[in-house]
Amino acid sequence: MTTPDFKKFNIDAYKPGKSKIKRFKKVIKLSANESALGMSSKAKKIISNKNLFLDKYPDGKSKNLRKAISQAYKCNSEKIICGAGSDEIILMICQLFLKPKDEVLIPEYSFLMYRIYSKIVGAKVVFAKEINFKVSVKELLKKVTKKTRIVFIANPNNPTGTYLTKKELLDLRKKLNKKILLVVDDAYAEYMKNEDYSSGLDLFKNKNNVFILRTFSKIFGLASLRVGWGHGSKKIVDALNVIKAPFNVNGIAQLAASESLKDKTFINKSVRHNLLYSRKIKKFLETYKIYSNSVSANFLLLNFEKSRYSAKFLYEKLKNKGIILRSTEEGYNIKNKLRLTIGSKKENLKFMSAIKQILKK
Ligand SMILES: Cc1ncc(COP(=O)(O)O)c(C=O)c1O
Repeated sequence: MTTPDFKKFNIDAYKPGKSKIKRFKKVIKLSANESALGMSSKAKKIISNKNLFLDKYPDGKSKNLRKAISQAYKCNSEKIICGAGSDEIILMICQLFLKPKDEVLIPEYSFLMYRIYSKIVGAKVVFAKEINFKVSVKELLKKVTKKTRIVFIANPNNPTGTYLTKKELLDLRKKLNKKILLVVDDAYAEYMKNEDYSSGLDLFKNKNNVFILRTFSKIFGLASLRVGWGHGSKKIVDALNVIKAPFNVNGIAQLAASESLKDKTFINKSVRHNLLYSRKIKKFLETYKIYSNSVSANFLLLNFEKSRYSAKFLYEKLKNKGIILRSTEEGYNIKNKLRLTIGSKKENLKFMSAIKQILKK
C-alpha cells in the first residue's frame, strides 16, 4: 500500500521529563517542573462537581476565564488569548508571524518548543550564546539581522533557572529593533521573589511589540488540563483569534483555571514551600559539591563540575530508587548537569535521603 508523501522536518521531537520506571509502580517525578503541591482545593472541588455539561462544546473564547485573568493580573481581557497550554500559543505566534526563511532568535539553552514550532513553520532558528548559563542581552543583539522577526525569552529560563533582571529585560527591548516581536515567557513568574526581577507582564503590558506567555501548568498545578494564556496588543490577539482552533481550551480547564486564580492562600503557600525547599536542597547539595543556580523558579539546574560524581551516575542511581530527574543532555545538549524540580515535602525528604545513601562525602 502506498503512503502519500508528506513534509519531512529536520526536527528532534520534544522529549518530556520521564514519568515512568519499569520496576516501580509509583515514582517520585522531579523531572517536569510541575507543581509540588498539586492544585488548589477550590479548583479540585469545582471540577469534581457532577453537573458539568461535557456533552456541549466549551466557550471557544474562554470569556469567563479571560475575565478572571484580567482581574487577577490587572490587564485588559481583550488583550488576552487562552490556549491549550502556553504551548499552543507559542505555535500560534509562530504561525502568525513567521514566513519561511524568517529568523527566530533564541538563547542557546532555551525551552525547546520555541525552536520546534519555528522550524515547523519553515523559519530559521538562530541561537545566541549564553554566558555562564544565563541569557546575554549583548549576545542576542549581536545575532539580530534584517530577517529577525521574533526573539523568544523565557524569564526565568528553563532549563537553566537563571533570569534577566528588570533592568536587563528593559534594556533588551530598548535596543531591539521595534519591528521585532519580543516574546517574554513568564511561565514561572509567580514563583519569583527576587528583588531585581520583574515579570514580562508587569514591564510590558502596554507595549505593542511584546507578547507575554503565561501558564496554569506550573504554580497552579493544572498541567494535565492544558491551559495557558498570552497577552499582547489587541491587534495581535484579534489576528490570533482568526487562526485559533475553535474550541481549543476544554470546559473543565477553563473552570479549574478561573477558580484557581481565586485561591490566593494556596498560591502563597506554594511560593513559601518552593522558597523553603529550594534553599534547603541547594544548601544540602552544596555539601556534596553539587552547585546550582541561585534560587528562582521551582527547579534547580545541578552542576556536577566540582563533584566527584557525574550527573549520569547520580541520574541512574536515583532512577534505581524510583526518583526521576531531568537529564539535560537530551534536547538541551547540556553536559554533566541535571534539572531537579522541587517536589512535595515527602518527595524532597526522600530525595535528600537517597542522595545521602548514594553519595559519599
Ligand atoms: C518556559 C516554559 N514555557 C512554556 C512551557 C509550557 O507550558 P504549558 O504546559 O502551558 O504548555 C514550559 C513547560 O515546561 C516552560 O518551561
